[in-house]
Amino acid sequence: MSPKNHKTSANRATPDTTGESRVNRRSFVQMAGAVGGAGVIGVAGAGPTSSQHALQATPAPEDVPEPTEVRMPPWAEEPQPGPAIPPHIPPWMTEWGPYPSEYGTRSPFERHVVRLPGDTSSRTPLADLHGTMTPNSLFFERHHAGIPNIDPAEHRLMIHGMVDRPTIFTVDDIKRFPATSVIHFHECSGNSGSEWTEESIAPTVQAGFGLLSQTEWTGVPLKTVLDEVGVDPDATWMLAEGADAAAMDRSIPIEKAMDDALLAYAMNGEALRPAQGYPLRLVLPGWEGNAQIKWLRRLELGDAPWQTREETSKYTDLMPDGSARQFTFVMECKSVITNPSGGQTISGHGFHEISGLAWSGRGRITRVEVSVDGGETWEDAQLQEPILPMALTRFRFPWEWTGQAARLQSRATDETGYVQPTIQQLVEVRGIHSNYHMNGIKTWAVAESGEVTSAWG
Ligand code: CO
Repeated sequence: MSPKNHKTSANRATPDTTGESRVNRRSFVQMAGAVGGAGVIGVAGAGPTSSQHALQATPAPEDVPEPTEVRMPPWAEEPQPGPAIPPHIPPWMTEWGPYPSEYGTRSPFERHVVRLPGDTSSRTPLADLHGTMTPNSLFFERHHAGIPNIDPAEHRLMIHGMVDRPTIFTVDDIKRFPATSVIHFHECSGNSGSEWTEESIAPTVQAGFGLLSQTEWTGVPLKTVLDEVGVDPDATWMLAEGADAAAMDRSIPIEKAMDDALLAYAMNGEALRPAQGYPLRLVLPGWEGNAQIKWLRRLELGDAPWQTREETSKYTDLMPDGSARQFTFVMECKSVITNPSGGQTISGHGFHEISGLAWSGRGRITRVEVSVDGGETWEDAQLQEPILPMALTRFRFPWEWTGQAARLQSRATDETGYVQPTIQQLVEVRGIHSNYHMNGIKTWAVAESGEVTSAWG
């Protein structure tokens, strides 16, 4: 459709009843009828004659009403400058907009939705996102030596150790295997570690819980590739090593490697972003992000864990008696209200939807309850489909805010029957010496002013 036709139809949709507009509407209908009739003839006939009809029926350019004729009804006499709201005609309806581009960008009016970047991590703006998927540009980051700039043609995956056929694969070799796509949450085991003590809580859901994202990963089941190289039946562990300057490495039990582990090369339909492991990474559904090695270059099969720095000094959970829990891979059932949440202000009494995310590294979410009185009473929230295993599940809860102070909480249950604990219950068992695996119930306090702040316990 030409620019002129486009404007004509847009103006026809305005709710005007003046005589001038009726004339213009009539001329549009006449023109549309002529074009439609030509189409019918074209379908019924075949050959030069019908084509000729179609050409003749197409209105000549001078027959198309001038846009200025139709966009100056009486109520729009001062269209520029002026209010953009109906019944006025906004400026973006008066000229042809920018052309399509090679790689898209969002509206400049959405530029405030950004990650919170630090030196080694950035956090997803959970309160500003909708549904359950994280846009690739807002997927959280956690790096141990920055982001390597890897040429995929130069990248290799070496698989060796307790295997029958040690092999070095190119990225293209990996992409030749049958692929699959899976949707899973991705969470740093240190996410919401600020909740362990009242003094350390973060002010917003992004600052406290933003080391959490979700994507659709595409890649090759690791089992397919391990079967190709032939794993020794006595192998019980696998070392995964990344090609960053930290040579980030973790020991993975063979059961997980042969179960649902994925060699991923894509996220949300496009190649992995460099910050998420381009060109190849390990995905371990439901497990802590740190173990899902990015920039994957080496898998070594063995019969004992390697006791790397990242599973001895780091990523262990120091208990009250001084011992440390090691290889705590699974991210337990958890939830958080994202709206309303800390830093926001509720405007106006009346209906407000409480909404948030729930997830479990052990399977599907089966229930989310919401409390508006700090855990005194609970009611079931609605769970939005689809409810996928080891995936973010959006919950929604209708709330009538009467203007009283409130304490908002959510409590998730997964399909194993595990119920998200309170922070106090977690602290009783695990003390406060570990930063990792905090999945306690989060509280947001709503003041009578509508101001929402981060609260504890
Ligand atoms: Co852990």
